[in-house]
Amino acid sequence: NKEHEIPEYWDDVVELEDVKDIWGDDAKVEKEALMQFFKLKQDLETEEIFIELDSAYRSVKRQQEVWDQFEKEYGIEYTKKTVAVPKLSEHHTGLAIDVCLRKNGKLIYENADMLKEKAIFAKVHAKLAEYGFILRYLEGKEDITGYSYEPWHLRYIGDTKLAKEIMDKGITLEEYIS
Ligand code: DAL
Ligand code: ZN
Repeated sequence: NKEHEIPEYWDDVVELEDVKDIWGDDAKVEKEALMQFFKLKQDLETEEIFIELDSAYRSVKRQQEVWDQFEKEYGIEYTKKTVAVPKLSEHHTGLAIDVCLRKNGKLIYENADMLKEKAIFAKVHAKLAEYGFILRYLEGKEDITGYSYEPWHLRYIGDTKLAKEIMDKGITLEEYIS
């Protein structure tokens, strides 16, 4: 998070798996997280909810590109609230997945457009814990996470019981840890 940067050794210990993102580009996700993501995605499809992999593992260099792109497009204030400074992004872990939505065959991927899809995201969030994911940037907890509400940013923590406890309590990972 904003106070803990990715340790230098991380890339050497994390087992990343190659996958294509929805844009057809090469992406990487931590091995177990990816398997669980596919299970979550499949489960949601039984309810006619369609999530796609938008962005997952990002190197420090890639995070800088994302930062620069946002700064250019939306300005520094918005960028600070929505994009992590390189080395401080959870996307460096391989355990974070940004999803986008497919609705009536059309992709919904812009932040502002996704924020309007409350009903769809409610169904997505209801199933996260069962697959070991939590929601990381909660609405109303911006002062704790340091970021705006991001219904699309899923964090794999692995332990489904713990994920359920965190999601049921509606707390952030920071609150759980402290
Ligand atoms: N959007 C999240 C905060 C990141 O850039 O890591
Ligand atoms: Zn994210």
